[in-house]
Amino acid sequence: MKKIILGADHGGYELKNIIKSHLESKGFDVIDVGTNDAQSCDYPIFASRLCKKIQSGDSELGILVCGTGIGMSMAANKHRGIRAACCSDTFSARLTRLHNNANVLCMGARVVGAGLAIDLVEAFINAEFEGDRHIKRLSLIEDIENGKEL
Ligand code: RB5
Repeated sequence: MKKIILGADHGGYELKNIIKSHLESKGFDVIDVGTNDAQSCDYPIFASRLCKKIQSGDSELGILVCGTGIGMSMAANKHRGIRAACCSDTFSARLTRLHNNANVLCMGARVVGAGLAIDLVEAFINAEFEGDRHIKRLSLIEDIENGKEL
């Protein structure tokens, strides 16, 4: 079964739950790291829970939702091996898989509506990394992660 991890803060949990229903209806095994209510919380905690699950191999892909998607992407990208992309258009959501091999899609519930959010998710999960010339560029990002001078 295809697996995916979802996470959100108080600004994103309703959209996260809409995405969850959509993915479950498509046969995905969804791991939900919360949050699950409107109680104010801190997005880095949920970004980190999700990223640690990707790092440990529980799933290859994750989706994070906060108000803008920006805080989630900033927090997620601090984790080794995580390539998070904050997207609000389907072209970017597709290309970030094809070219950047993004493993986390971030979006803002105050930026995109439910319909566009589902399109973003579909664009993201249905695209495959193209490899080729992009491999070297991703290994340069790893070099940055390892403190190497480029
Ligand atoms: C929470 O108010 C808000 O700052 C958060 O959801 C997100 O937009 C941060 O980037």
